[in-house]
Amino acid sequence: SRSIDLAVIPGDGIGQEVVTEGLKVLSAVLPQDVKLETKEFDFGARRYHATGETLTDADLDALKGHDAILLGAIGDPSVPSGVLERGFLLKLRFAFDHHVNLRPSKLLPGVATPLAGEPRIDFVVVREGTEGPYTGNGGTIRKGTEHEVATEVSVNTAFGVERVVRDAFARAQARPRKKLTLVHKNNVLTFAGHLWTNVFNRVAAEFPDVTTDYIHVDAATIYLVTDPGRFDVIVTDNLFGDIITDLAAAVSGGIGVAASGNINPSGAFPSMFEPVHGSAPDIAGQGKADPTATVLSVALLLRHLGYEAEAGRIEEAVSADLAERTGNPARSTSQIGDALAERVAG
Ligand code: IPM
Ligand code: MN
Repeated sequence: SRSIDLAVIPGDGIGQEVVTEGLKVLSAVLPQDVKLETKEFDFGARRYHATGETLTDADLDALKGHDAILLGAIGDPSVPSGVLERGFLLKLRFAFDHHVNLRPSKLLPGVATPLAGEPRIDFVVVREGTEGPYTGNGGTIRKGTEHEVATEVSVNTAFGVERVVRDAFARAQARPRKKLTLVHKNNVLTFAGHLWTNVFNRVAAEFPDVTTDYIHVDAATIYLVTDPGRFDVIVTDNLFGDIITDLAAAVSGGIGVAASGNINPSGAFPSMFEPVHGSAPDIAGQGKADPTATVLSVALLLRHLGYEAEAGRIEEAVSADLAERTGNPARSTSQIGDALAERVAG
């Protein structure tokens, strides 16, 4: 019989609340014969203050054997900036080689957008997840003096770029519009930019049915606002992908509905699914957080594990739930979770 062995990391702030609802919907959507096992891990600010640890080798070993990881959010104002980001989140993404950071954006009917008119928004950003300026390859000299120099070197390997570009082409090929846009800044970043462009063009030859396009990242931010319908699949570097996916979330229903997957396509390590939003300590514990982004991340998780029908049911439930929101009183985190669980079980 089938089973899902899930590592669950609620984390900080609203993480616990949204993960509870994500698991509620997951249990409700799974067929009877699928055995769901969950193991909770206590990473984040509390553990850091208690032990000084963020993510140890033993932790990585313990996570390794699970089928997938569901993460709420990590981060707290009591921990210096960068400690948990580098010591937990990036460490995990790098250790498990999550090189495909998948971030879909879809503006669902009835959902408010700050954009004018009725824009069509239905694209996926494939953000590289293990290289670029995120590798911690840099340094500071003469720190604290007026002659301080800091470098933050972007690492781009032909191997790393090719595998994510190939993944993006395959995803584009599987979608009806079959269009892939490379977003970079190859007019200024002439080393990394040319590597990306050359690899992109080389791989494109193997996907003749996929239409390709190139846009500089600054111009891409304009199009995301003025003409988001031009995008189908976007492939881009780690930092550009970070920035444009926040903008993408803002125009397609907000951070409350933006889902993501940190994917290791080979399956050598478990992939991790998380809402794009952070731990929102200002509203933590009040039942105000929208669990929809986590629930949609659960749909990505299910699709990754081969439960396509169940993933689709969750997405339909979210779509129906969002469509009914306008004009109705705001609901709590658990009320939204209950409503979605009821719909998927329906
Ligand atoms: C995200 C976040 C992270 C990132 C931070 C918290 C390290 O902004 O998941 O987009 O930059 O990748
Ligand atoms: Mn981000």
